Amino acid sequence: MSNPIIDQLNAAAEAAAAKLQAAAEAAELEKIRIEYLGTKGLLQALSKEIKTVPPEQRKETGMTFNTVSKAIQQQFDERSAALADTAAADHSGLDLSLPGRRPDTGRMHPVARVMEDCVAIFRRLGFIVAEGPEIETVFHNFDALNAPADHPSRDPSDTFYFDDGRLLRTQTSPVQVRTMLAHKPPVRIVSPGRCFRRDTPDATHSMSFHQIEGLYVDRKVSLGDLKSILLHFAREMFGSGANIRLRPHFFPFTEPSVEADFSCIMCGGKGCRVCKNSGWLEIAGAGMVNPAVFEAVGYDPEQVTGFAFGMGLERLAMLKYRINDIRYFYENDVRFLAQF
Ligand code: DAH
Repeated sequence: MSNPIIDQLNAAAEAAAAKLQAAAEAAELEKIRIEYLGTKGLLQALSKEIKTVPPEQRKETGMTFNTVSKAIQQQFDERSAALADTAAADHSGLDLSLPGRRPDTGRMHPVARVMEDCVAIFRRLGFIVAEGPEIETVFHNFDALNAPADHPSRDPSDTFYFDDGRLLRTQTSPVQVRTMLAHKPPVRIVSPGRCFRRDTPDATHSMSFHQIEGLYVDRKVSLGDLKSILLHFAREMFGSGANIRLRPHFFPFTEPSVEADFSCIMCGGKGCRVCKNSGWLEIAGAGMVNPAVFEAVGYDPEQVTGFAFGMGLERLAMLKYRINDIRYFYENDVRFLAQF
């Protein structure tokens, strides 16, 4: 038993199927869906007519309505999926001859690399890494290190001070003080880190730079121990042909104090422009820990001795990678950084 609503529904199903089949784009499909299934679509309009059919035909009309709307929705879904597949398989816009895009890889900064190399060498010798703050007190940076009250390095023209009297550390040596205040002897530490000085920047000076500090305190530590550690370091860092020599020097926190020269890594000691024809390069400050420093941190100078050393990491990196201007390290030009 048929009625005009059922006829119209069946006609709509047929027409929608034909249109969906013919549609070539997603947008077109969507238009057809709205035309039939949208809230103002044909099926909504027909659903309002169901109440006009004789009661005994309503059930059948309602069932036809449901079947038809489901069928249209299903055809829409199938066509959408089919169109998406075709689009994905379409390679006509692909040019296989284009060069690929190389992903950029990050690289380690040369100063960070030298820092890691140094730490690795000293770790193998039994040193552990200690850290200290970049904002320091006058006590840790100067007083406890036996710097005389009128030492020029304390001057605000050389050191950055904060209003509260603290400062940006001018050296990694205050980590010696912090370590000894916190730990009983023996101690064997290295401390790499950033330092700051009010220098006018040029090829070898920067207001911010890095050092690595070393400290070894125990019973009967000698200058000979210092020499052998530094020689071992020089050979690990610059090759088995490297040599060192110690020259007398002065630092307030060591007595005696020395400056450690490494044989020139450019010419092997024959003399060249880099070593100013001397065959030697100044690399480290070092010496035996001054008893005054032990007293400042509560160690008994009658019981223990120790050596300390400090060196600039930029200088090591400049020698190792043959860089002639320290400012390259801070400009962050990727063409420079990509070379390491
Ligand atoms: N702190 C010194 C500087 O910045 C370097 C130094 C010299 C560190 C001798 C030491 C040392 O531990 O014993 O120039």
